[in-house]
Amino acid sequence: MLRERPLDCRSRLRSRSAVTLPTGRNEAAAAAAQAPSAAQSVTIESFLAELAAFQAAASESLGGVSDGSGLEQARIEFLGARSGRLKAIQKLLSGLASADRPAGGRHFNEAKGAVTSLFAALQDKLAAVGAGSAAVADAIDVTLPGEPVRLGHVHPITQTIRRVQEIMARLGFESVDGPEVEDQWHNFEALAIPAEHPARDPLDNFYLAVARGADPLLLRSQTSTVQIRVMENRRPPLRIVSLGRVYRPDTADATHYPMFHQVEGLLIEPGTTMAHLKSVLRQLASSFLGGDVHVRFRPSFFPFTEPSVEFDMEWGGRWIEMGGAGMVDPAVLAAVGYDPDEVSGFAFGLGVERIAARRYGVADIRDFYRNDVRFLRQF
Ligand code: FA5
Repeated sequence: MLRERPLDCRSRLRSRSAVTLPTGRNEAAAAAAQAPSAAQSVTIESFLAELAAFQAAASESLGGVSDGSGLEQARIEFLGARSGRLKAIQKLLSGLASADRPAGGRHFNEAKGAVTSLFAALQDKLAAVGAGSAAVADAIDVTLPGEPVRLGHVHPITQTIRRVQEIMARLGFESVDGPEVEDQWHNFEALAIPAEHPARDPLDNFYLAVARGADPLLLRSQTSTVQIRVMENRRPPLRIVSLGRVYRPDTADATHYPMFHQVEGLLIEPGTTMAHLKSVLRQLASSFLGGDVHVRFRPSFFPFTEPSVEFDMEWGGRWIEMGGAGMVDPAVLAAVGYDPDEVSGFAFGLGVERIAARRYGVADIRDFYRNDVRFLRQF
């Protein structure tokens, strides 16, 4: 609410009034001096003319008001209790002859009531318009396009794991899990990695602190542990695939990470050969990468396979190293209670981050773990 304050004395409406009204703080005294004083005699005709001019000026002024602040200014000018124009006319009442005063008072009240009503009506109208425009501003425009709902999605490494599981399931391989905290038997000894083998070096593994005298435990360094756990509990024939985390204290670079995922495949069936191994790997590579992907073997060594190979896949005109494989060593079969003269089988292992990077064209596997949603959103 505006505080009542003197108005600009140059108001064009004021000049039409027969009475000069005080409008400015410094002019008030002079204006009051010019206005007919209570002692001066005023005829009823000039009094009524003042009232009529007041009503006409108020009505015209309100016609030009379009908002709350304009209305308040007009109220102060016409109805202001201190120096409003109606107040000045009221002072003239005492100058009327006593016989004219009752009529003068009645006309004064009528004019005052009429102008006050004009103000009230305009005030209601402006309030209604304000409420209306607020309602329009608050209204929902159902024709506007909606804001897209941002949904999270499965991490590219998890997508890769699921895709490999699905492809291997079509080849009859069942998905199995194994523990990430392992004992030395499953991570090393059963896989023909003896105590003096450099792969068991504490600097190459994440050993856990255990109670004095307890068997050492470590974060598994390969998923080949799951081969042993499955063979210990089941009889052939077997076709299993295991995908999970493994841990090695490797320095992180574009192709290495201290925590990564491996795919482990194991097939134990009578009459299994390296040819079966190659055709399974070729099926896996072709389905995963798309197209007819060729596989080649290079001689290698793993303590738990004999013979052992590194296998590469030809993709996009290049040979890419994918992982290790071989026929399960008879010593490993014997360690889990199988008769090596009766059964044979193959095993293979490859890195999930490496094959995901190949498939998606990612140059640095560390990008999978930076948690940058701009990168992850692409998959
Ligand atoms: C093994 O771990 C064997 N267990 C694989 C195997 C299984 C051989 C069954 C024979 C029979 P290797 O250490 O090479 O092998 O690791 C296998 C794959 O893991 C590598 O080819 C590579 O793709 C991936 N890999 C190894 N180290 C890292 C690392 N630090 N970060 C990311 N990927 C890695």
